[in-house]
Amino acid sequence: MSLKLGDTAPDFTAQTTQGTITFHEWIGNSWAVFFSHPADFTPVCTTELGTVAQYREAFNQRNVKTIAISVDTLESHNKWIKDINETQRTIVDYPIIADPNLVITNLYDLIHPNASETATVRSVFIIGPDKKIKLTITYPASTGRNFDEIIRVIDSLQLTTNYSVATPANWKNGEDVMVAPAVKTVDIPYIFPKGFKEVKPYLRTTPQPNK
Ligand code: BEZ
Repeated sequence: MSLKLGDTAPDFTAQTTQGTITFHEWIGNSWAVFFSHPADFTPVCTTELGTVAQYREAFNQRNVKTIAISVDTLESHNKWIKDINETQRTIVDYPIIADPNLVITNLYDLIHPNASETATVRSVFIIGPDKKIKLTITYPASTGRNFDEIIRVIDSLQLTTNYSVATPANWKNGEDVMVAPAVKTVDIPYIFPKGFKEVKPYLRTTPQPNK
């Protein structure tokens, strides 16, 4: 059965390129991006894992840890990291899980047999400090992920956790946001003192409250 938004991310203990980790303990009070890739020593995956390393500062600023997984071995991951560092001009400083026995792969439903019987799909899970799944996306093997979008969603999730707002289509950090439907229009001036616009009774915008 596939994992759904709001489910607790399954906990596990795994061998990684940074030693053995127990997932929930490793997440601690951070957010986590847990992402699978089809195979080591493949072109798109090389750019993806390099990009995540290059985005270290952006993830750190948001209190986000990153962790990758495939069914390759630890030996393979460790050899491949050298290529990623060299070709993507970065340092992969986050753990990559080795899951040759498909234990975690099966927990997270990362083999989609009609796509590939053997390789993990390109899935992304954003997990909150409460260990609940906040987002899942699965891409085809031939399409590299857009990690700017992952950062954008994290910004939205972290904002909407703390304020009664939602973020509109193509929103970027710093732009106006939508007042949540649960907020009565009469209460908006008290909750959002920066002001608001009412386009329709259900369509109300306000400046991003934490900027
Ligand atoms: C890649 O990472 O380039 C890739 C992996 C599996 C299938 C197709 C492409």
